[in-house]
Order: sequence, then C-alpha cells, then structure tokens
Amino acid sequence: MQLTAKTFHGLEQVLAKEIEDLGGTNIEILKRAVTYEGDQKLLYRSCYELRTALRILKPFHQFKTKHENHLYKKIKEIDWVSKFGLEQTFMVDAVTNSKYLTHSHYVALKAKDAMVDSFREIYERQRPSIDRRNPDFRLNLHIGRDNVCTLSWDASGESLHKRGYRVESVEAPINEVLAAGMVILSGWKIDKPLIDPMCGSGTIVIEAAMLANNIPPQRNREQFGFMKWKDFDAELWKQIRQEAKDQIVQNKQAIQGYDKDFQAIKAATKNSIAAGLENHISLDRQAFDQVSSSVNDGILITNPPYDERLEEADIFAFYKDMGHILKHQFEGYDAWMISSNIKAMKKLGLKPSKKKILYNGALECQFNCYELYRGSKK
Ligand SMILES: C[S@@+](CC[C@H](N)C(=O)[O-])C[C@H]1O[C@@H](n2cnc3c(N)ncnc32)[C@H](O)[C@@H]1O
Repeated sequence: MQLTAKTFHGLEQVLAKEIEDLGGTNIEILKRAVTYEGDQKLLYRSCYELRTALRILKPFHQFKTKHENHLYKKIKEIDWVSKFGLEQTFMVDAVTNSKYLTHSHYVALKAKDAMVDSFREIYERQRPSIDRRNPDFRLNLHIGRDNVCTLSWDASGESLHKRGYRVESVEAPINEVLAAGMVILSGWKIDKPLIDPMCGSGTIVIEAAMLANNIPPQRNREQFGFMKWKDFDAELWKQIRQEAKDQIVQNKQAIQGYDKDFQAIKAATKNSIAAGLENHISLDRQAFDQVSSSVNDGILITNPPYDERLEEADIFAFYKDMGHILKHQFEGYDAWMISSNIKAMKKLGLKPSKKKILYNGALECQFNCYELYRGSKK
C-alpha cells in the first residue's frame, strides 16, 4: 500500500532514513512529508516505531478539483457507509495549497457535509457524529498546488508527538518529534555522554534515552487510529509490539539533564519515570554556569530560552554568557543549540560548524553545532 508520513520542516531526510530502516520502499521526500510503500505490518510499525513522524496517512482516493461544489459532489460519491458505521464518530483534517480552494477550515466543513449527507440519504436522516477530540476515524484531506485532492485515513489517530510519557510540563516544552529529530541530526553515538543543561521537562534527554536503548517511541501509548479500522489485525499488532520489545537493549550511557528551575527538574523526573527511563537519565537542579563535564568528548544538545520578549541587552548577555561557559566548561564537546533568536546566537562568540533550519511550532529556528575544540575561542 501507498503511505505518507508527515513531519516537521527540516526532518524529512531523517524520517526517510527511519522509513528505509523499517523496510519501506519507493521512498520519496516531499515538503514536510515522506511517501513510501509497504504492507500492513509496516503501517503499524510506522506508527509505533518512527521517532520523527507526526502522522501516518493511508491515501485511498484522489481526484482533481477547483470548486467547492465539485469537491462536495466528488466526496459524496464515495461509498462511506461501507467504510464506517452510523454509531462511529469522525473528524476531517484539511490542508489546502490550491489557489481556488484557499480555506482549509471551509474545505474540511464541505467534506464533512458531503460525508454526513451520504449517510442521511441511506439512513433516513440519521448520521454519524463529529468528535474533534477523540474520533473513531480521522479523514485527512489534502489539496495540492496541482489541484489534486487526496483523501487519506489517518492511521496514527492523535499526533505521534503524544508519546504518553509527558505527565508534567513546563513553559515552552519542545515537541517530542522535534527533540528526537535533533538528537538524530546531532549524530550522537551512545558511547559519548549527552547533556542538556537546560532540560526543562526533559524531552531531549528522554528521546535520547529511548533512541539509545532502542525503545519504541510509542511504548507508552495505547491508542492508534488504525485500531478502529475494519481490517485491524490484533494478532499482527501484538506480534509487532513483542518484536519491538525483544529489540530493546539495556545500554549503559551517560545522559544528563540539568535546569536551574526546581519545577522543571520535578517535571523531568516525573516524565522520565513515566517513560520507564529513570535509570538511564540523571537529572539535577543546577544553573548552567555550575555544570561542567569531566570528560573531553561529548554532545550537548539544548533548547535555551529564546526570549524575544526580554530586553535585548538581557538576552544578548545571556547568550554571551552561554558562549563563555561552553568554551570553558565543555571543551572537546559538540554543542548543538536550537533557537529562533539568531541575533542572540551570534552573541555566543562561536562559529557554527553546521547549521540547519528547523521549526519550533511557528518559530523558524536555527539548529547549530558548535565544535568546542580544546583551547578554541572562536
Ligand atoms: C525553552 S525551556 C526548555 C524546554 C525543554 N526543552 C522541554 O522540552 O521541556 C528553557 C529552560 O531553560 C532553563 N534555564 C534558563 N536559564 C537557565 C540557566 N541559567 N541555567 C539552567 N537552566 C536555565 C529554564 O528553566 C527552562 O526550563
């Protein structure tokens, strides 16, 4: 079957490699998505094991459209009654890049009306209900610039960044999928220590520990969209979970998270326990200038405050201090930092050896690597 995995801008290559490792074929990289082919097993494994996918879609219908009435007619023509029942709930997610049908929300409404009306005609005005929070079926509708409308079932259900371990949060936590992508992009090898000195609720260190021990990112999650599908194969699903469990390793790696804020360390501790990783991650309340490493070779990955609301002088001074600490307390490390505050990043006084554009929510960010050679000042 044809499948589409959605991701964040900048993580497409990482996701394509993950899909290849799972055995996907005919892999094609698009903008914020990767298409590929595979079987039912790959579909389930994609939802369970891909770290950098936000959604897994299974396309089932395509047509060209430029007009709302035509869109309605084409969607109403589909045999919805054979696909799901009156008693089941659904919702429509729509994204449109068409110059004719420009409003995603309106397009979703039109599609929903067409689906509901096709039920009403058959069941004497009865119709399935909409549930935007926890629907049985999620229909994904995408209209491209070429006016091709693709309808897909969303196999993931809730977005795959919801891993099930975030029991407590802090202000501005980083998205789990983005954090996993950053760890993979950093090229971290597990024989080196990994430190996040501003770990907040612990997302980066938790994703790193899952990666290091081959723990499926969705180990803690019970619900996926495909479980409601008529062809759901419970035996195959059980087998996939067991096979993934058998692949888990118990590596010894040094993963450390620090934060100056007590509440952040409390949240990170709770989350690492929920993820079953408390023995793999050490967490301590410590301000960045108090943290240093006893080894000369490691990876630091962090998501500091971007704080565009602070007075410029303050945020510039904050980044300047970070640069000083990196140079003097993390010699020999590769330090990876994500920030939307490019002017402040320049105040680090370090030249990035690698640069990548990533998005943290709506914020365009740079994810830069600073190689902190021994004795290097710039
Ligand atoms: C954007 S948040 C990090 C969010 C984190 N990535 C997560 O997923 O929850 C920035 C964190 O930096 C911490 N922080 C700010 N200044 C610090 C300092 N000087 N030393 C240590 N931590 C600091 C804050 O307490 C906050 O938790």
